[in-house]
Amino acid sequence: MFKILISDPISDQGIQKLHDATDVQVDKKTGLSEDELVAIIGEYDALLVRSQTKVTPRIMEAGTRLKAIGRAGVGVDNINLEAATQKGIVVINAPDGNTISTCEHTFAMMMALSRNIPQAYKKTVGGEWDRKSFLGVELRNKTLGVMGMGRIGSEVAKRAKAFGMEVIGFDPFLTEERAEKLGVGIGTVDEIVQVADFITVHTPLTKETKHMIAKPQFDIMKKGARIINCARGGIIDEAALMEAIENGTVAGAAFDVFEVEPPQADHPFLNHPKVVVTPHLGASTIEAQENVAIDVSEEILHILRNEPFKNA
Ligand code: MLT
Repeated sequence: MFKILISDPISDQGIQKLHDATDVQVDKKTGLSEDELVAIIGEYDALLVRSQTKVTPRIMEAGTRLKAIGRAGVGVDNINLEAATQKGIVVINAPDGNTISTCEHTFAMMMALSRNIPQAYKKTVGGEWDRKSFLGVELRNKTLGVMGMGRIGSEVAKRAKAFGMEVIGFDPFLTEERAEKLGVGIGTVDEIVQVADFITVHTPLTKETKHMIAKPQFDIMKKGARIINCARGGIIDEAALMEAIENGTVAGAAFDVFEVEPPQADHPFLNHPKVVVTPHLGASTIEAQENVAIDVSEEILHILRNEPFKNA
């Protein structure tokens, strides 16, 4: 009998396959501290997490039976990959399941930003009928710069075209052929920031993408650009962005992710009239949570049963 520990809230429908399996025992214990996890992980063959659990080298050291760690989502930045590799533990993710939800959240943020929806909502429910302060801009005929044209970036680009936007993408793997098929232009980061009215990032956070948009890019950015980050905190330099908002280069920003999550109460984005924020909700839909849980459960079963699987 294989024992699987689920240590973060993960869709119950999504993990039904695990409950149905006759060779598996599933325990769901969420909100455990590192010490609590270290104390029990030795009993388990696999660990399934979302993003709250930080899977540290200590946890893996104590996981003497651990064969696999599954991340119900795309990013595996809460799992220490070096320690997993050293211990021979397979780490898998669910790269597809939340693509559309994250893409749609990006659009929700872009529209909230262009029409000042959160700011207007706040005033209206506060009893003020203010029709003067919230003059927005249309998306139609605007240029959208998409940094990262993978799964999510490509879906964002397709929807932007439907809104009548011109799209330019940056991605080292974006071929002319694919760009043509998507109806988007290709540019470097620096080329795009000079012409885009909206800029959205859709890359993982790596050494190469950290602060991909920072002071040098804000210095050459088109005046009045609006910036969206529903990917990972740190791709855009938050301090440099704040400066660019204050000096009028950037008209506004919408952020779902932060360099430190949750951000400190005095983070300059919180309560700033030109910044829209949400608490890392990109993948938070019923559909996405179910999809990623199904994908990762299936993969975990393959690994435990020594069947072929896709590695993260
Ligand atoms: C991801 O990496 O897929 C998202 O950040 C997922 C999540 O919110 O759990």
